[in-house]
Amino acid sequence: MALYSDKVMEHFLKPRNLGVIENADGVGEVGNAKCGDIMKMYLKIDNDIITDVKFETFGCASAIASSSMATELIKGQRIEDALQLTNKAVAEALDGLPAHKMHCSVLAEEAIQAALEDYKKKKA
Ligand code: FES
Repeated sequence: MALYSDKVMEHFLKPRNLGVIENADGVGEVGNAKCGDIMKMYLKIDNDIITDVKFETFGCASAIASSSMATELIKGQRIEDALQLTNKAVAEALDGLPAHKMHCSVLAEEAIQAALEDYKKKKA
């Protein structure tokens, strides 16, 4: 069996929402100390809705595919709903990740949470 699903390969080779949002409303950066991979999420938020999201990921194929899928899942969502996004949901949407690569999807969940926290802090 191939290590990665077709969906992982597709999002790795053609990542959605790759890039930077200038003057983002929320920015979150997280990393994994063990593998050294880093993920950064940028959010544009209007009326509690995530109107745009972009990411930069310096990491493995699973981390890039997870970031790409996560941005697709939260774009157009309400903040409250985006906060509920779990790494498991990201991995499932990618038709699964190998067990030793599940931590890559955790980065996506954490980067979104960090960006939403940053937004709340800026707004407060
Ligand atoms: Fe660490 Fe993928 S190997 S994020």
